[in-house]
Amino acid sequence: MFEVIVKRKIEETHKIMSFELESASGQALPPFEAGSHIDVKVGEGLIRQYSLISHEQSDKFYKIAVLRDAASRGGSVAMHDDVNVGQTISISEPRNLFSLDSTCQRALLFAGGIGITPIMSMAVELYRNNKAFELHYYTRSKEDTAFYEQLSSCEFASNVFFHFDGEEKAADKIIGPADKNAHLYTCGPAGFMDYIFDSARFNGWDEAHLHKENFKAEPIADSAEDRPFKLILSRTGIELDVAVDQTALDAIDDAGIEIDMSCEMGVCGTCITRVLEGQPDHRDSVLTAAQKAQNDVFTPCCSRAKSDTLIIDL
Ligand code: FES
Repeated sequence: MFEVIVKRKIEETHKIMSFELESASGQALPPFEAGSHIDVKVGEGLIRQYSLISHEQSDKFYKIAVLRDAASRGGSVAMHDDVNVGQTISISEPRNLFSLDSTCQRALLFAGGIGITPIMSMAVELYRNNKAFELHYYTRSKEDTAFYEQLSSCEFASNVFFHFDGEEKAADKIIGPADKNAHLYTCGPAGFMDYIFDSARFNGWDEAHLHKENFKAEPIADSAEDRPFKLILSRTGIELDVAVDQTALDAIDDAGIEIDMSCEMGVCGTCITRVLEGQPDHRDSVLTAAQKAQNDVFTPCCSRAKSDTLIIDL
């Protein structure tokens, strides 16, 4: 983590606030690719992930946007109410779990509400790289649409399509038939992303061409399915028993072994660890279906094991 100073705090809509964060040391900020996010330490023990919005001076200040969600676990409300201009806060280096596929010739981008933040950065990168793309942005109304003016007047404004409640076009019509040169990216509420994925599947799109960003935990499998298992740490040979009511991360932590972690709910990817042997029981929302199928990484904060033992690279 390193320190940044809140340079500007802007009310983008009545529920969305953006923050500009400049380096406290005066040094250039680490570069990032579209789709990247940072961890923000919002308060004691409160770390949240926010996507970075690309702009011309990204080396001087990072920009993030936060939806005020009173039903959340408190991070967004604390960002809105307690984080103010001039304040110093801690953030992590950017990490990217939602990157653009380099082979993609055409991209379809679908944003629902606050999901616009990584999607907008993808549009900027695609435009810079002369790639064909469309950005479809779903919100309640123009007033609820963060960055409406910016997206309506930017250099790729003709690629942006706004869909307000009541005037939406069915996503399967927009997506069209499967195209082996195209990739689809979506970010927004879980139900919205499911709708977009289902529309693409309905049109015969391949799973490998569907990508989503998930910052909210999906329901974790029924605890009745939990079973104890053994973790073997390959670098030391330490063996740990993970009890039914314990996570793998708890067991590792109890053994006094440090491991990077942040959300502890399978959405940020910080704790992703290599699996050398055994079959994980993936419970996270961060690995893609293809990554899960390979069974060579898992998230110890929430995932478990289907095999009796997992040997991990730790
Ligand atoms: S700590 Fe976030 S995925 Fe495990």
